[in-house]
Amino acid sequence: MIRTNKISFSYKEFENHDELGAEDRELVLAARESALNAYAPYSMFRVGAAIRLESGIIVCGANVENAEFPSGICAERTALSNSVSNYHNDKPLVIAIAAMTEDGLTEEPVPPCGNCRQVIAEEESRTGNKIRIILSGKRKTMIIESISCLLPLQFNKKNLKVNLL
Ligand code: THU
Repeated sequence: MIRTNKISFSYKEFENHDELGAEDRELVLAARESALNAYAPYSMFRVGAAIRLESGIIVCGANVENAEFPSGICAERTALSNSVSNYHNDKPLVIAIAAMTEDGLTEEPVPPCGNCRQVIAEEESRTGNKIRIILSGKRKTMIIESISCLLPLQFNKKNLKVNLL
């Protein structure tokens, strides 16, 4: 028998980031500020990510490009490498992402790339906690409850059948 299955997800959309709660608003501002620290001389596309940990600490990252293009790294992975290496047992609860071109903050929210989705998924599976994702542009902000929404049918440690400590 052939079954046709469907995967869908709901997310919240705000016209203005002022409609967010105070903590989320603070995180979006941290992501925007972080984008200013990007090193993006090749794409001129500056991205900032800010992660709120369980303790309330905010850890940020920006994209860092390289003349050898694949050696560059995205803002989300910079922020996550920072949080895992410096606050190993403090679980990420929320990540906010913002980006700017030479004209300033993007009008539309910028979603994480495929590599970053995979890395956020690994962090959810490492900590056992969902990470809320806030994508914020000038005109619109979206809140997505978990990376599973953006990366369904994900490959993770369950597929490898390994039991990590
Ligand atoms: N970039 C990010 O930092 N995060 C994403 O999720 C998408 C893309 C960066 C990588 C590169 O430095 C620039 O944006 C253009 O792709």
